[in-house]
Amino acid sequence: MVNKVSIKKFYLDKINKLIKNDELYYSKDKPKISDKEYDELKRSILNLEKQYIFLNHKNSPSKKVGFKPSKNFQKQKHMVPMLSLSNVFNKEDLINFEKKMKNYLDLSDRHSFEYSVEPKIDGISASLTYKNGVLVLGLSRGDGYEGEVITENLKTIKDIPKNITSKDFPSNIEIRGEVYIKKNDFESLKEKFANPRNAASGSLRQKESAETKKIPLMFIAYTFGLFENNKFNKQAEFLSYLKKWGFKTSKYNCVISNVDHLIKNHQSFEAKRYELDYDVDGLVYKINDLKLQKRLGFVGNAPRWAAAHKFSAASSFSKILNIEIQVGRTGALTPVAKVKPVNIGGVIVSNATLHNEDEIKKKDIRVGDIVKIERAGDVIPHVISVDLSKRSSNNLKFKFPDKCPSCGSKVEKEFNNQTKKFDAVKRCSSEGFSCEKIAIEKIKHFVSKEALNIDGLGKKVVEKFWEKNFIRYPQDIFKLDFKKIENLDGWGNQSVLNLKYSIDKSKKIYLNKFIFALGIRHIGQENAKLIAKHLQNIKNFIKIDKNYDFNSFTNIDGIGEIQITSIKKFFSIKENLNIVRDLSNYLNIQNEITNDSGKLKNLTFLITGKLIKMSRAEAKSVIEKNSGRILSSVSKKLDYLIVGDKPTSKKVNQAKDLGVKIINQTELINLLN
Ligand code: IVH
Repeated sequence: MVNKVSIKKFYLDKINKLIKNDELYYSKDKPKISDKEYDELKRSILNLEKQYIFLNHKNSPSKKVGFKPSKNFQKQKHMVPMLSLSNVFNKEDLINFEKKMKNYLDLSDRHSFEYSVEPKIDGISASLTYKNGVLVLGLSRGDGYEGEVITENLKTIKDIPKNITSKDFPSNIEIRGEVYIKKNDFESLKEKFANPRNAASGSLRQKESAETKKIPLMFIAYTFGLFENNKFNKQAEFLSYLKKWGFKTSKYNCVISNVDHLIKNHQSFEAKRYELDYDVDGLVYKINDLKLQKRLGFVGNAPRWAAAHKFSAASSFSKILNIEIQVGRTGALTPVAKVKPVNIGGVIVSNATLHNEDEIKKKDIRVGDIVKIERAGDVIPHVISVDLSKRSSNNLKFKFPDKCPSCGSKVEKEFNNQTKKFDAVKRCSSEGFSCEKIAIEKIKHFVSKEALNIDGLGKKVVEKFWEKNFIRYPQDIFKLDFKKIENLDGWGNQSVLNLKYSIDKSKKIYLNKFIFALGIRHIGQENAKLIAKHLQNIKNFIKIDKNYDFNSFTNIDGIGEIQITSIKKFFSIKENLNIVRDLSNYLNIQNEITNDSGKLKNLTFLITGKLIKMSRAEAKSVIEKNSGRILSSVSKKLDYLIVGDKPTSKKVNQAKDLGVKIINQTELINLLN
């Protein structure tokens, strides 16, 4: 007679065999069983679980999505960063997107832009470097600035040319595009991956390119990174050459002007999106004129000259099982509905955000309610409305906590000085690291991709290390006892070595990333860059304490009162001072690179009045690109006052008094040439 105990033992033996082989395969690169045996082993575990529901194990293939990708790829910097796209969802957003560009370029409201319109394929992007027609390097996107070297895996993709002999193919170029898997081909991989995008990503990051080759990956090219001697004038023209050179491009690419035409096209495309043989989550609009693209440049991590027009979200109904309150890094209390798992547009959803207390009140959302949930692309699913016809009288109004569920501190709403209103968000009022949830989130942020970028120290691992008391502060990461980690479930010699390596590697870091990593409120990546540029090195940064004179900060364009107050607050807490000092000892913080080889090196400028065919923002960015600095007021430190139409006479007079050179736009352009 088979009994529970012997079934369990039989099952655990198989799980152990799987763990051993995973370790051999992924980390040591020495598989002891054939792929076929390995697949059979996995299948037999899954079958056992189906037959006996009491069986389960955290290492079961049923708990994992896809194969575990290798963590051991070499990394390499992209010659030109691989950035993201800002989203627009409707006509209003689109008009706004155009307006910003018109303002920046100082174009009239009536100006009509021409766009290259391309489907936004939902895969993963890759960058291919060709030197003299030969594919020499293939990188994944990584954090946008540094990718993983996956050349061999990319070479297995049929759509990617390895040698290009066309005479007009540029001799040094990075071609970029999307690696994806067709919907049909995904059918047979359904059990292993959550969606086609995961399947593409998982298979691209296999250690053995032979593994990648087994999965039919496709590639569509759509842009360039580094491009020496680029002679093209239009994006659409470049796309047609891509095709000529042997790349696949989307047959839906087209050129459209005018917002109304874009909207019409979007509607008709959205209607047929399900007919395409690959997943598309929107349309990409790029200014067709490459010179204009160059002038427009970037804001933060995205180009000013492009936008992704997302398709409307998929939605479904489910029941709210519970409402949990999550505490974020900045102390924000976010209510999250735990819902009965439901398939929304191909993805299983079991959490949906409820945003904040006001939102729950406004929609009167209660535990037990049947609600409509929406999910758009990579955005977190959210609750749209309650189906009141299905509400039971047992469902009670939700009472939002007035204490932090993590540390018990009182929660408060901040007053926003700009809007003169209280924020909708309630926050835990504790400071620094005294609230457990906030502390864990701060550490997660510290190690995240955009900050220290420590591979192998993901969110789950941070939680585990916290639970085991290994870490309480960011600096504890550099004091980890690896012996203890090696003894944890699921860790082995190799994974510990990998972690050690990633931690060591993360120690060399630029000042801007370090400042961002600290997670100071209102200091995101862009502000961190501005501050780092201003302070230049870590020595100047650690001088900041509660007596610091922040006067010079008011000169930083982009840093305002909100940011300065927040930095002041951060440094008024002793714990934070210790963290910064401690970390500066463990880390090798690199001076910020300032571009000081330009023509305007060591020169300062101030603009007054309106310029011709150029916004002030663009003029500033041109000056900064050429190593000049912008000041916010006339002083002895000012070298040039640039005077446009209708200048402020006070500024002009002050400049005259101080002997500051006064020039017009043409003279500025002469300085540059
Ligand atoms: S252009 C700076 N063109 O969308 C320009 N991207 O959110 C960014 N994508 O990482 C890339 N189709 O993975 C571009 N026709 C297309 C695209 C496309 C899909 C993806 C790409 C990128 C992401 C940006």
